[in-house]
Amino acid sequence: MQDLGLEFECTALESPPPAPQRKASAKSAQHAASKAAINCLPALVAAAGWGQLDKVQEQTRQIVDLLNEHYPSVSKKLAARLTTNPTRLRPLPDNLLIANEPRHTLTELILADTARREIEAIIYEHTLASKLAAYQLQPRHRILLHGPPGNGKTMVAEAFAGELGLPFLQIKYGGFMDSHLGGTNKNLTTVLEFASQAPCVLFADEFDGLGGARDLQGDVGEARRITNHLLIELERLPSHCLFVAATNMTGIMDRALLRRFDFVIELTKPTQTMVVECVNRELRSEITPGFDLRPQIERISSTTFDSVHSVVELCKQIRRDLVLNQGANITTIVQTLKTCPKH
Ligand SMILES: Nc1ncnc2c1ncn2[C@@H]1O[C@H](COP(=O)(O)OP(=O)(O)OP(=O)(O)O)[C@@H](O)[C@H]1O
Ligand SMILES: [Mg+2]
Repeated sequence: MQDLGLEFECTALESPPPAPQRKASAKSAQHAASKAAINCLPALVAAAGWGQLDKVQEQTRQIVDLLNEHYPSVSKKLAARLTTNPTRLRPLPDNLLIANEPRHTLTELILADTARREIEAIIYEHTLASKLAAYQLQPRHRILLHGPPGNGKTMVAEAFAGELGLPFLQIKYGGFMDSHLGGTNKNLTTVLEFASQAPCVLFADEFDGLGGARDLQGDVGEARRITNHLLIELERLPSHCLFVAATNMTGIMDRALLRRFDFVIELTKPTQTMVVECVNRELRSEITPGFDLRPQIERISSTTFDSVHSVVELCKQIRRDLVLNQGANITTIVQTLKTCPKH
């Protein structure tokens, strides 16, 4: 990380000056000290942002020294907060988690009105976290997304991170489920402890695999211990960590676990309005220049789909054909669609 620099010039005086001059020079020394302390702030904030706790300590110590003479009480308070042995951020357990910068925002999503309203309300609540804190309240932060495949559960989870400017942490199940007794619980603790350190979105896809019902037939012992552990850990998770779980099957999830979620949001298969919105976006003239696709758009708009994903894929297939074959096959592509009954 770049050093943001600190220049503090100190002029030595040769002989004691007369009283008014002394007063003026004391004032200017005080001014210079404050200025120098303020100059340390960008480096301090940047170091904090990058989790470089050694640098945070170093900058704070400089501020303590600079303020010591003229602002002793502030300096003392800061010094008291300096720890002798700074705890470091734990390194990313990369066998268990993937950390990414989010690529999606809410505007890219085609959603039913109810789902969009709920999602926007959660984002709003988190943007006002400090206001809530002033009244001893915390934003609600445990969200379960459910619905059939391909309707945006993963995209929504990422959009939370995109909208709130948070890192997007995704649980990697490959290394997570451990056949050794207590191994999965240990991994769960590692992941949640890591995610608790700083604001982030933690995404647990296929959550039913983890949070399956404790009393399912044949599902004994270890599975029950995992669910119980999850119940405790979710309760302890700080509100700056937005925990987003996704499942296609809420039916098999443990009831007690379901109750731990502050929001349960269903992402349904697309309504006709959503299909129209999607097809108009995916076949808009800017990305299909020189082709009049109005008949195809109309045809697709009156078709039912199981997922937004299939609408997107169909439109991509058409666009690909426009590029590769000047649209020679699009009539065939569209003819295979089943027109839905009038809405
Ligand atoms: N609501 C949506 N709005 C816009 N695009 C969508 C939406 N849902 C799905 N898509 C498209 O389908 C792709 C897959 O979506 P996504 O992975 O978010 O679905 P999912 O619900 O998580 O599916 P699965 O249950 O299989 O994990 C996206 O990359 C996007 O192209
Ligand atoms: Mg998904």
